[in-house]
Amino acid sequence: MTATISPLSVVADGVDLGDGAVIEDLCVIGRNGPPERTVIGHGATIRSHTVIYAGNTIGSNFATGHHVLLREANVIGDNVSIGSSTVVEHHVTIGDGVRIHSQCFIPEYSTLEPGAWIGPRVTLTNAPFPRCPDVSRCLAGVTIGRDARVGANATILPGVRIGERALIGAGAIVTKDVPPGAVVVGPAARQVKSIDDLRCPVGLDHRPYPVPEPVE
Ligand SMILES: CC(C)(COP(=O)(O)OP(=O)(O)OC[C@H]1O[C@@H](n2cnc3c(N)ncnc32)[C@H](O)[C@@H]1OP(=O)(O)O)[C@@H](O)C(=O)NCCC(=O)NCCS
Repeated sequence: MTATISPLSVVADGVDLGDGAVIEDLCVIGRNGPPERTVIGHGATIRSHTVIYAGNTIGSNFATGHHVLLREANVIGDNVSIGSSTVVEHHVTIGDGVRIHSQCFIPEYSTLEPGAWIGPRVTLTNAPFPRCPDVSRCLAGVTIGRDARVGANATILPGVRIGERALIGAGAIVTKDVPPGAVVVGPAARQVKSIDDLRCPVGLDHRPYPVPEPVE
């Protein structure tokens, strides 16, 4: 099995594309390379107008929506999907199973731990004082903890850590670290409950999220 690449797309030298990859129309893969190499594991689906710079290392079953921009020097695990019109800057770490919805902004030095889920139009930030002459010395990436979920249109301020399994309410502006399992809402976001307090609104189950198995 080999990759299927649209004749309307460009795959640069130095791109190592796994078996079964599908590259749709008008994509650029490995932009500005070589010498930087680009590795994409097997089973990738890269939808039209996606641009991936050289210097990314991406696992298997990677999927992009349309018009995704992925800058250089990112490390991305297996089974990751990035929704349409999302921008991922450089030096971002994305763990296995992460899903990023449409129209999100993920700046440099962000870390998304395995299983994290990022809702539509979420903005992560990294510059505490934009355009300060020394801004590059104080950039601080956001960390989204394992299996945490970030609701639509939330903004996470520089250096904030969202704890494991926490839930960020739609439209929140998160200014401080969020404890594991917390539910926070509002500008500036305050904890209102724990995810264990959430109830399924349509009665399908007692809780929206199962209690995790204890880690050995
Ligand atoms: C945060 C959230 C999980 C809370 O759900 P819930 O437990 O059913 O919420 P409740 O109805 O019990 O609300 C509790 C209080 O928080 C407020 N609240 C709930 N969500 C809020 C939000 N996103 N921002 C501000 N306040 C919010 C409610 O108005 C209520 O306030 P009150 O007690 O003064 O009336 C939910 O509202 C939410 O934002 N989910 C994310 C949705 C989303 O972005 N999905 C993305 C996929 S499309």
